[in-house]
Amino acid sequence: MRDVHGDQQPRAPLGAGFAPLGTPVSRVDGIAKVTGHARYAAEHPAPHLAWGVVVSSTIAKGRIERVASERALAVPGVLAVLSHENRPKMRRLGFMYKDMTAPKGSPFRPLQDAEVRYSGQPVALVVAETFEAARHAAGLVEIAYAPVRHETNLLEHLDRRYSPSRMKAGFSPPPKPRGDADAAFDAAPIGIDAEYYSGVEHHNPMEMHASTVIRGDDGHLTIYDKTQGSQNCRWVVSRAFGLSADKVTVRNPYVGGAFGSGLRPQYQLLLAVMASLHLQRSVRVMLTRQQMFTFGHRPETWQRLKLGASADGTLQAVVHEAIAETSRFEDYVEVVVNWSGQLYRCENVRLDYKLVDLDHYTPIDMRAPGAAHGVHALEVAMDELSYELAMDPLALRLKNHADRDAAKDLPYSSKELRACYEQGAARFGWERRSPRPRSMRRGHELVGHGMATGIWDAMQMMARAHAVLHADGGLVVSSAASDIGTGTYTVMSQIAAAALGLPLERVTFQLGDSTLPFAPIEGGSSHVTTVGSAVDGACEKLRHALLKAASRQPGSGFANARPEEVEFADGYLVLRSNPATRVPLEAIVSGSGQPAIEAKHLLLPNVVRQKKHVRSTHSAVFCQVAVDEDFGTVRVERVVSAIAAGRIISAKTARSQIVGGIVWGISQALHEESHADHALGRFMNHNYAEYHVPVNADIADIDVIFVEEDDRIVSRLGAKGVGEIGIVGVAAAVCNAIYHATGRRVRSTPMTPDKIMAP
Ligand code: MOS
Repeated sequence: MRDVHGDQQPRAPLGAGFAPLGTPVSRVDGIAKVTGHARYAAEHPAPHLAWGVVVSSTIAKGRIERVASERALAVPGVLAVLSHENRPKMRRLGFMYKDMTAPKGSPFRPLQDAEVRYSGQPVALVVAETFEAARHAAGLVEIAYAPVRHETNLLEHLDRRYSPSRMKAGFSPPPKPRGDADAAFDAAPIGIDAEYYSGVEHHNPMEMHASTVIRGDDGHLTIYDKTQGSQNCRWVVSRAFGLSADKVTVRNPYVGGAFGSGLRPQYQLLLAVMASLHLQRSVRVMLTRQQMFTFGHRPETWQRLKLGASADGTLQAVVHEAIAETSRFEDYVEVVVNWSGQLYRCENVRLDYKLVDLDHYTPIDMRAPGAAHGVHALEVAMDELSYELAMDPLALRLKNHADRDAAKDLPYSSKELRACYEQGAARFGWERRSPRPRSMRRGHELVGHGMATGIWDAMQMMARAHAVLHADGGLVVSSAASDIGTGTYTVMSQIAAAALGLPLERVTFQLGDSTLPFAPIEGGSSHVTTVGSAVDGACEKLRHALLKAASRQPGSGFANARPEEVEFADGYLVLRSNPATRVPLEAIVSGSGQPAIEAKHLLLPNVVRQKKHVRSTHSAVFCQVAVDEDFGTVRVERVVSAIAAGRIISAKTARSQIVGGIVWGISQALHEESHADHALGRFMNHNYAEYHVPVNADIADIDVIFVEEDDRIVSRLGAKGVGEIGIVGVAAAVCNAIYHATGRRVRSTPMTPDKIMAP
């Protein structure tokens, strides 16, 4: 890997030692991060760097009539004001801008033409010798608009709903109805029919989206971008500007959080490349926190749930309908309702999912897209049903537990949900809960206990990995994976170290560079199952190569040894039948006459085997809230989440993922919403003062349990992935606890005091 810009590839500190799979290892990139050596997209130095600042539209829809840039250009140091009128040549056709995760439609192209498609759209880029000059001049660009009427209010336009087109990787449209759900609902003695609403949420990673384009003397562009997939961005940049693959390298060695916002290339990337090509120099563009609210977001969603049951709690009918927003130019789709046909056993199910196109930017995946809100509505409705039945909410779930997936009529590859319920309930002390709402009180606070189930997909994609053992005994493994803060460096290093019996500090895992072996975007909780399996596969081949090399070395004692007769432990190749016969791995390399011994692996999912099973992760979430009776403020005092996600490879980073998901679930429940002023068609609370996210004071006791599970159908490692399951069901558990505390059912998120206190 070229290292011309001084990137640090992290490695565990000396003395880290052996870390078998499953042990809680501190992140190998931890020291680089806390000492500031880890550089993020906007931090990479480049000689002769110019700075771009984005000018955002002030109208939601219409045309740009004039761009007056004279005053901006008069600011000392300003190099250019790029707009649709003078930008460099870009490809015209929309499909040339499609990235690996694009939904059906025509991707947004910055500065493409005079049309304004949403409020906050980038309409100009001011480039200057300094950031200060660019920022000042950006305020001096005057743009004259001819506005036309916009529509941004989902609830006012539900009648315009349509069935989405199906093109998006990972999206399954709702399955066909089973039985007759509406008739069964009408006939059921007990029923719930309720509407749920969740507003827009925006991703708020600490690192803003940014791109630093470093132009080499030969015109090669090395781009540091905030992205969840360097190769995805490289692909789009090459196609949009007609640059050959070897002219562009995209890197993302460190990413300061993304949560889905970096699954697709964002507009600052194309703007920075545009400016770099125009000025033939290096350019950096970083969005402001306000501009982080001017692209993808979790879509505003309306839902209706009808659940019918017989008096003993057996589910008779499930109807789940959802209507979500998308943009005018793409059909963003996510799986919102399908979970309701899968999570519980029921003969009569009807699911429906529709879109309404609005004058907003296209929504984008946000942690557990679809499930975060779809499973929320289902799990709140199940709780409502439990009170109608006068049945314990957990008992209702157990009564309707689905051993098979009824929608696909297939077995699960593994499903330890019952163990989640059992262990979570025991740890929480669920049996001590008093069943009646408003029956637990502490001073002026009402105390409530609630629970919910969570489910997410266990996915595996295709990836390549390359493993090299050097003569100094160091192992370098590489794949163009990403680490968006999830712990990829750490878990991949652990997998490689374990596979070769090496201490952690002898392993370097390289990621975050588009020139490395292929890896998919880091999304869908699939990096461990995918890249991890590729790494494990490459290391297995490397073991074979090392044995082969050792067997050729005279007197090594491995002349006729077969792979199953040896092991790799403590830095040695060891003969099982006679452990005294052993050789250090670096001696095998030096004895081979080669500078290094290497192996490559292409991981292809075993589709034939996988398709015979439904592959999911599960959780059971239990929560205790205290609600102030006078003010309606909610404190989440305790959360216990029991997770079944296959084999846990890296216990500490996996736990951190789940804790992060739970914090976000609390945030979904109580804090987050982007408010649009529909007269302006604009999100108004685009800052940390008014877009609420939890702080330490909002978070109390969080307890994570990983139940025993090992799934060799999802991945050769037994892992299923933990990135997203942590958030699913958390907000529902909070909602259900609020009901138990107060007797008030809040059917929209966030559950703010005004809703809890509403008469
Ligand atoms: Mo995740 S929403 O797949 O980054």
